[in-house]
Amino acid sequence: MIIPENRTSREAVGIVVGAAGILMFAGFVLVAAPYLQLQSAPIPEGLKPYTEAQERGRAKYVNLGCVYCHSQQPRDPSVAPDDQRGWGRPSIPADYTYDYPHLLGTMRTGPDLLNIGVRQPSQAWHLLHLYQPRALVRGSIMPAYPFLFDVKDAAAPGDVVVDVPAPYGPQEGVVVAKRAALDLAAYLMGLDRTYPVGPASGARGDAR
Ligand code: HEC
Repeated sequence: MIIPENRTSREAVGIVVGAAGILMFAGFVLVAAPYLQLQSAPIPEGLKPYTEAQERGRAKYVNLGCVYCHSQQPRDPSVAPDDQRGWGRPSIPADYTYDYPHLLGTMRTGPDLLNIGVRQPSQAWHLLHLYQPRALVRGSIMPAYPFLFDVKDAAAPGDVVVDVPAPYGPQEGVVVAKRAALDLAAYLMGLDRTYPVGPASGARGDAR
């Protein structure tokens, strides 16, 4: 753009200053204000930091794209019947204290998983479900993750063997969970935000 006159260059300065102002305002409203607001939210007593295995499992969850089909944000009954679905109370900001990056998700091709550790506390269930969802849930459209497992002739000491029912297992040998599968199961079993929270913790005061 050619700006020959002084008057137009003054206008250009106005546009730049105006745009910077709008950007700063948006930055304050969307970044700084929520940060300041949530800084004072106390960490719920029932919320435990992730263990190392759970952290690794969480990274695997990100890596395998589980978030594209699963949310982690049970909603208020006024918005969705998530409590009737058995997905737990509406989540509050402090529930995500240790979550970076957060895995709220936007898609619900599968159920919400923020409290899956309560619904499914069994390691054997999670491992088999990851190996082959259809072995547990007829007609499930969740992908299978067989590459998280080894097929061995025989189990070695310390191996976690997955009891795969026919016809889903290999013809010969045993299915043994790799560390990634064990980590992922540890992460899923640890997902539990069902501890009670009061209005002071950032939960909606009028939540029913
Ligand atoms: C293409 C979509 C899709 C992807 C990707 C996906 N899931 Fe699922 N998931 C589903 C569906 C649909 C169900 C419900 C049927 C079932 O239980 O298999 C489900 C169910 C589940 C359940 C049981 C939930 C319950 O309430 O019983 C768990 C746990 C789970 N998925 C974990 C995972 C993990 C971990 C990953 C990533 C490794 C993943 N899912 C990736 C679609 C998906």
